[in-house]
Amino acid sequence: MTTAPLLSVEQLCVAHRTPRGDVEVVSGINLQLEAGGTLAIVGESGSGKSQTALAIMGLNGPSACLTGRVLFDGENLLTASPARRRALRGARIAMVFQDPMASLNPYLRIGLQLAEVLETHRGASRSAAWAEAARTLDSVRVSAARERLNQYPHELSGGMRQRVMIAMAIIAGPQLLIADEPTTALDPTVQAQILALLDELRRDRGLAILLITHDLGVVSRLCEQTLVMYAGKLVESAPTQQLLSRPRHPYTAALLRARPSMQHPPGLRLDALPGQPPDLRQTMPACRFAPRCRYAQPDCADVPLQFERGVLCRHPL
Ligand SMILES: Nc1ncnc2c1ncn2[C@@H]1O[C@H](COP(=O)(O)OP(=O)(O)O)[C@@H](O)[C@H]1O
Ligand SMILES: [Mg+2]
Repeated sequence: MTTAPLLSVEQLCVAHRTPRGDVEVVSGINLQLEAGGTLAIVGESGSGKSQTALAIMGLNGPSACLTGRVLFDGENLLTASPARRRALRGARIAMVFQDPMASLNPYLRIGLQLAEVLETHRGASRSAAWAEAARTLDSVRVSAARERLNQYPHELSGGMRQRVMIAMAIIAGPQLLIADEPTTALDPTVQAQILALLDELRRDRGLAILLITHDLGVVSRLCEQTLVMYAGKLVESAPTQQLLSRPRHPYTAALLRARPSMQHPPGLRLDALPGQPPDLRQTMPACRFAPRCRYAQPDCADVPLQFERGVLCRHPL
């Protein structure tokens, strides 16, 4: 018997109305995530990763028009009422962002911010919420958790603030955590600690994790499956180890070449990917990556493409 995935995104498109006309920033994304599973979305800045995540949360803003389906536990979130979506956010689906200071209120003590999540979603009393806040801080390895409850965000280091953000995200016991560049602002040691923490939460709480990052070094530590996005489209999907060792889309291969590695001889220049992603307002070739692709053939620009066997490319590697 097969069980339905926790999250199933089908043919998701996100367009924004702007003064210069409509622009489609996510174009027909499909993805699935099992309960307790891990999935990464990678791609250059501007490829539509955050807009995909925000669509799952229902937070693309008033200029957005969404089509397709976002099924969470079988329920299509794109047709759910705003009240229903608010109830699910935090309680069952939570998100952490790159910059904890953008999400934490600088004027409120940590304990109050954590307790408020529980009071909102669980109707917990202040004292019960406060005790749970301390336990949750403890579980994300914040030292001296009880004392921290009385501190303000600016009193914490960047790594500690990110832990507090993760605590806020998981305190109401969600099944899905979306982490959008959660370690990008942190130095490498702290970055590794946060990734280890996310892995622990997945193991101990059965949390499903959707990790968004531009850094391929990050996905290999945490995620079983990886999706690659380019200019709003899914271009490759594969088990992470396979994607890293045998990329099939030339764009994935180019991202890998541009990645610094421990094996990389010091002083040797990284093979940066030349050119820019396309302007999404302009008419694009059939393969959006073709203008930057070192393997492009004459048919890449004008023969329509199908996502087949995990890759959107006429001439995969
Ligand atoms: N409110 C908006 N209106 C118009 N375009 C937007 C809006 N928000 C994001 N975009 C555009 O959508 C594209 C994808 O953005 P985003 O999902 O944030 O990329 P990523 O997270 O992969 O860096 C970008 O070109 C960005 O400029
Ligand atoms: Mg982003």
